Amino acid sequence: MDKVTILDHPLIQHKLTLLRQEETDSKQFRELVNEISMLMGYEALKDMPLKKIKIKTPIAETVQKTLDGEKLAVVPILRAGLGMVNGILALVPFAKIGHIGLYRDHETHEPHEYYCKLPEDIDKRQVVLLDPMLATGGSAEAAVTFIKEKGCKNIKFMSIIAAPEGIKRLSEAHPDIHIYCGGVDERLNKDCYIVPGLGDAGDRMFGTI
Ligand code: PRP
Ligand code: URA
Repeated sequence: MDKVTILDHPLIQHKLTLLRQEETDSKQFRELVNEISMLMGYEALKDMPLKKIKIKTPIAETVQKTLDGEKLAVVPILRAGLGMVNGILALVPFAKIGHIGLYRDHETHEPHEYYCKLPEDIDKRQVVLLDPMLATGGSAEAAVTFIKEKGCKNIKFMSIIAAPEGIKRLSEAHPDIHIYCGGVDERLNKDCYIVPGLGDAGDRMFGTI
């Protein structure tokens, strides 16, 4: 599990507690997801390569560091992953955005694809795959498989809350990808919801409960 990082900064933990609370409404929920995603992205992207460039300040010429132009693609898993996009784009506004639409079957809990549109050059990009919930891991596993089929080798997966079952499934299916979570909860319930979790992320985000 050396490729699993729990991003438990106090600010993330505080906002995650607010996010979980059932009285948190959709507007607050979206704001919190956005803020948590930005805080998580700040940590998850800390290995971005740098290069040195020569610049001139008002005082002197100097050699300083700048991002080495590594190309990023941010890919939310619809619907709930959409809420994480702007938090990451605030940090890397030059990233391209792809979309993967998946929903979990209510009976089998297995994912079904209904949409996939990815940047053409995604195989040359570092991919940051976003979904606030990693429950059984079926959706994340399927999304990583699609992206790999396009030739991508460099994939990070970010979820706000993960279940141990989801981490296990995703890291066994795709041991090469790096998983970042804001918190790891106890378990899944019989309906494959994360306990204690936060309920249905998509419904809470978009007010479709
Ligand atoms: C939720 C969530 C993940 C998935 C996680 O989406 O946003 O995509 O479930 O569960 P898993 O790890 O067991 O696959 P859902 O299928 O409810 O679709 P929605 O985002 O459109 O509501
Ligand atoms: N999807 C959600 O939105 N919440 C869960 O707890 C599990 C899957």
